[in-house]
Amino acid sequence: MLIPAQRMSRLGTESAFEVLARAQALAASGRSIINLGIGQPDFRTAPHIVAAADKALADGHHGYTPANGILPLREAVAADLHRRLGVSVDPGHIVIVPGGKVTMFFAIMMFGEEGAEILYPNPGFPIYESVIRFSGAAPVSLPLKEANGFAFKAEEVLERITPRTRLIILNSPANPTGGVTPKIEVERLVAGLERHPHVAVMSDEIYGQMTYDGREHVSLLSYPSLSDRLILLDGWSKTYAMTGWRMGYGVWPASLVEHATRLAINSHSCVNAAAQYAGIAALTGPQDSVAAMVGAFAERRRIIVDELNRLPGVSCIEPGGAFYAFPNITGTGFPSRVLERLLLEEAGVAAISGTSFGAEGEGYLRFSYASDVDSIRAAMGRIQALLLSKKAETLPKSAAI
Ligand SMILES: Cc1ncc(COP(=O)(O)O)c(C=O)c1O
Repeated sequence: MLIPAQRMSRLGTESAFEVLARAQALAASGRSIINLGIGQPDFRTAPHIVAAADKALADGHHGYTPANGILPLREAVAADLHRRLGVSVDPGHIVIVPGGKVTMFFAIMMFGEEGAEILYPNPGFPIYESVIRFSGAAPVSLPLKEANGFAFKAEEVLERITPRTRLIILNSPANPTGGVTPKIEVERLVAGLERHPHVAVMSDEIYGQMTYDGREHVSLLSYPSLSDRLILLDGWSKTYAMTGWRMGYGVWPASLVEHATRLAINSHSCVNAAAQYAGIAALTGPQDSVAAMVGAFAERRRIIVDELNRLPGVSCIEPGGAFYAFPNITGTGFPSRVLERLLLEEAGVAAISGTSFGAEGEGYLRFSYASDVDSIRAAMGRIQALLLSKKAETLPKSAAI
């Protein structure tokens, strides 16, 4: 019998991919499925970005690149951070990796071990908790509450720090809630962290360019007091509709950049060379496709929030960023996992149970609105019909009680 390492039993997953597989299987069997489950833009990568990858291949960029990424790409990332955030970053601190997830995996494995504690948002991106457990560290949940717009409260983060805390993971704008942390809370946190110099911070800002109604994205990179312990996670997947290209980056403090590069050398060697040239074109070329996509999401967000609030037993606050709505479904009487299954199997709508993002997600479902308006409206119509029919089924019973 094979004996995999114990740690394999602690590795979790991202159930959005499982729901996607079930949705695809149902669609293949002839069912009509509207997919509001998966978190990726429904836009294509802009043509000038695709052309840059074509050119790189035609020009013969077929070999390995430096493990941390080609210098012009790292310079383009530094210039982009300067343009957007007004921050100067040394390209030598940037490590290009295959997707946003890789920076998170590296950061958690760098700090996580038996006896260590890592704070993570709950509900939050499921890979945080999964990899914390995998690393052997204890996951310390940072509950995010609907009443706070699913933004973290600095006090609640700071009061969870112990001498064993090694790393704090933050994510704003957030998956799955769309929560955006206001500047005042970020500033309180940064000030409070001065009392805890042993704690590193990983700020997942992959949705940093997707905020609505004038909400400001506050990057932790803007705070010099964190510069020796902040890991910034960002990438191309969401902003440039490039999920399949596998392009992300980390900005690492001086003391960690070599560790991150070694992890890259030990795992994937380097990112696909042509994709790196596409990454340069994305950052240095016209940004109008980003603005157009975010404009479309803003419109869909308004529609989905309105429609969700019309459903019986459902209420939904306005998500400030990203492209997810995270309605409260407690009024339907169904646990999240049950409603996820009913929606997919009986209504043909793929959405993700809030519990896929941590125990604090019970009572919620995540809908991605990176889908066209007609599909969103059709999905809401199907959900309404399902909820009304379920209510009708239960009515006689409750009447009898
Ligand atoms: C909060 C968050 N961070 C990171 C990622 C990973 O992005 P990538 O596909 O670039 O690995 C995602 C993807 O859904 C995400 O939602």
